[in-house]
Amino acid sequence: METKWIKMLEDEPDMPAVKEAGHIIRNGGLVAFPTETVYGLGGDGLNREAAKKIYSAKGRPSDNPLIIHIADMEDLKMLTKEIPEKAKRLAEAFWPGPLTMIFHKSGQVPFETTGGLSTVAVRFPNHPVALAFIKESGGFVAAPSANTSGRPSPTSGIHVYEDLQGRIEMLLDSGEVGIGIESTIIDMTVEPPMILRPGFITEEMLSGVIGNIAVDSTTQKQIAGMAPKAPGMKYRHYAPRGELTIVSGSSKEVKEKINGLLKAAKEKGLRTGVIGTEENIRFYQADIKMNAGRKEDELTIARRLYSMLREFDEKQADVIYSEAFPGTGIGQAVMNRLLKAAGHKVIQAGQGGEKDDSNRQ
Ligand code: TXA
Ligand code: MG
Repeated sequence: METKWIKMLEDEPDMPAVKEAGHIIRNGGLVAFPTETVYGLGGDGLNREAAKKIYSAKGRPSDNPLIIHIADMEDLKMLTKEIPEKAKRLAEAFWPGPLTMIFHKSGQVPFETTGGLSTVAVRFPNHPVALAFIKESGGFVAAPSANTSGRPSPTSGIHVYEDLQGRIEMLLDSGEVGIGIESTIIDMTVEPPMILRPGFITEEMLSGVIGNIAVDSTTQKQIAGMAPKAPGMKYRHYAPRGELTIVSGSSKEVKEKINGLLKAAKEKGLRTGVIGTEENIRFYQADIKMNAGRKEDELTIARRLYSMLREFDEKQADVIYSEAFPGTGIGQAVMNRLLKAAGHKVIQAGQGGEKDDSNRQ
């Protein structure tokens, strides 16, 4: 199949194209579309055949549940058995926006969409093209991130095209997304509600509205014998093809350590890459250098992360070293994705010793 690639402005959805996209979804086909977090690979959330097509286009294991995207608060009722009071308050505070909530599913939601689970993940995104598209599609669009399984999530239309051309009917492209990291996921079926995946909406923002919340402890480190509660988080996602290692410590020690590692890799004939803050990047001697943004500017680091990881693939880096970033605010989500991309390989600079928990299960 040939993928129709339509470009438009974020604030001016091209309505004829969006209507055509909606028609494709209502007929059981697939369309990739932008959201404020990352691009999604959409199909009809209430159609079991469409869910199967999504898994196969993405090359994704079918036990990994999909998020259903809605464009009207009223539509949540149709998907869920009950809406807890706290979920109503979170929806009021953060929807439309980069927050996904998990509920007990209604009979309307096929098990194909939820990967066999009796719960369903729902998100009301905040993006003019996404909202127009969901409405034209009948209101319920199941969508994982629009990358092929194992690659970094797409933050621009060209990333989607690289991964999915020929596998989907249409791509609605409104350029680069605003956030760049997938939505925060919170499970509302447990008490206290639990964060399964950190994102732009932080723990502090959530507890500011509903009080006590829990965090799945596998989101910041690997724990022996413990699988993440969001099935998708167990896969080695987000990974570039080159071997990525994170180096943490004081700025001076990190710079020295990374340069030493880069030198050793070059001597072995490897093509080297580095991710550093704007303050440090010029000090590194690497073949490919990525400026993640200023140290304090977590939003920019988040927005650039996945496209930097993809660029290392394009430029064929064999080994990549990255500075660690501050784990506050959205920085927590950045570190969560970076740790997964690195398979949890972390070197502590300046203490003689190296910490590497990558071999732990
Ligand atoms: O920002 C986002 O959330 C993007 C955009 C497109 O909306 N979507 C996205 O979808 O990141 P995906 O499929 O790449 O990640 C969804 C995650 C997976 O880790 C999946 O296992 C988890 O959500 N998930 C979905 N339904 C779940 C459920 N019922 N229980 C637990 N985890 C669930
Ligand atoms: Mg994904």
